[in-house]
Amino acid sequence: MLRQTFLFLSRHQKLRHWFETSSRAQQLTSRFVAGETLDDVMRVVKELQNAGTMSTLDHLGENVTTVEEAETSRRFCDEALDAIAASGLPATISIKLTQLGLDLGEDVCRRNVDALVVKAQAMGSRVEVDMEASEYVDRTLNLVQHFQREYGCMRSVLQAYLFRTDEDVRRMCALGVPIRLCKGAYKEPPEVAYPKKSDVDARYLQLAVMLLDEGAYPAMATHDPRMIDGILAHAARSGRKPHEFEFQMLYGVRRDLQQMLVKQGFRLRLYVPYGDSWYPYFMRRLAERPANAFFVARNLLRS
Ligand code: FDA
Repeated sequence: MLRQTFLFLSRHQKLRHWFETSSRAQQLTSRFVAGETLDDVMRVVKELQNAGTMSTLDHLGENVTTVEEAETSRRFCDEALDAIAASGLPATISIKLTQLGLDLGEDVCRRNVDALVVKAQAMGSRVEVDMEASEYVDRTLNLVQHFQREYGCMRSVLQAYLFRTDEDVRRMCALGVPIRLCKGAYKEPPEVAYPKKSDVDARYLQLAVMLLDEGAYPAMATHDPRMIDGILAHAARSGRKPHEFEFQMLYGVRRDLQQMLVKQGFRLRLYVPYGDSWYPYFMRRLAERPANAFFVARNLLRS
């Protein structure tokens, strides 16, 4: 119930405006968001690398409504790639296709993504494509498929909560597209996604096993210790070596688990968001864990 409420609020424009202009709310987001500028995020990326963790940079933003906004987003991502190249670190960028104009037309989006993928390929990096609400899945996978065929430096997210995902895993594995598997963070109707968490968890493990068996360098995005145990057990059974897959987690979430995996010699990449459009991202993090919401409410009331 709380999860649904926060996911509903994540699309509430007036509340978004209030939050994004409240300095107290901005302070509270610093646990999940690395800062507003590229310098802020690169500082964090370097610290993480020193602690043995790779990064994927996310310049926050989604569902832009004009071509100019989409081009501005592309410029931010482009600058992030330049900063990664200058740092020499094995970082990638994560993008949302609605941030690059998917709602305005596939041609607008394709043009923006193309510029980024060309640069990522030239510098030996990768563009990771986040998966948004279910209405975008077909268009996202079509574009990923196209760019993977042309340039070969993509990674696509698939969400375990969608009924369709086992077929998508099979198709993407056959095409050699590396996958980041997550549980799924959007408000979806019961016609397309498992409503019960226990079903999503069971599905996640099945799909993770498929990816370990058939996937090209899969990325397991989860903070759930039961998922991690299951993944490690299957990797050991099936002979997948620690350098043949990676774990991914969100910046600021379960630092204890992050350190444990790195200590044990597993590859870990953190998803590090930055920028000033943090509201929808932040609300989805509250939806995942009600304790975060109580912490925020207590601090806002205090201020
Ligand atoms: P689960 O929600 O069961 O949480 C397991 C445990 O992790 C909790 O008990 C708690 O301890 C901790 N935890 C989880 N979330 C927390 C939070 N916000 N704050 C504090 N503790 C928390 N989704 C999507 O739809 N499209 C996408 O492209 C992506 N991309 C993505 C990238 C990466 C790197 C990650 C880690 C996740 C995503 N997600 C995503 C989000 C994902 O779908 C999912 O909502 C969250 O990862 C939470 O699911 P868990 O697997 O962690 O399990």
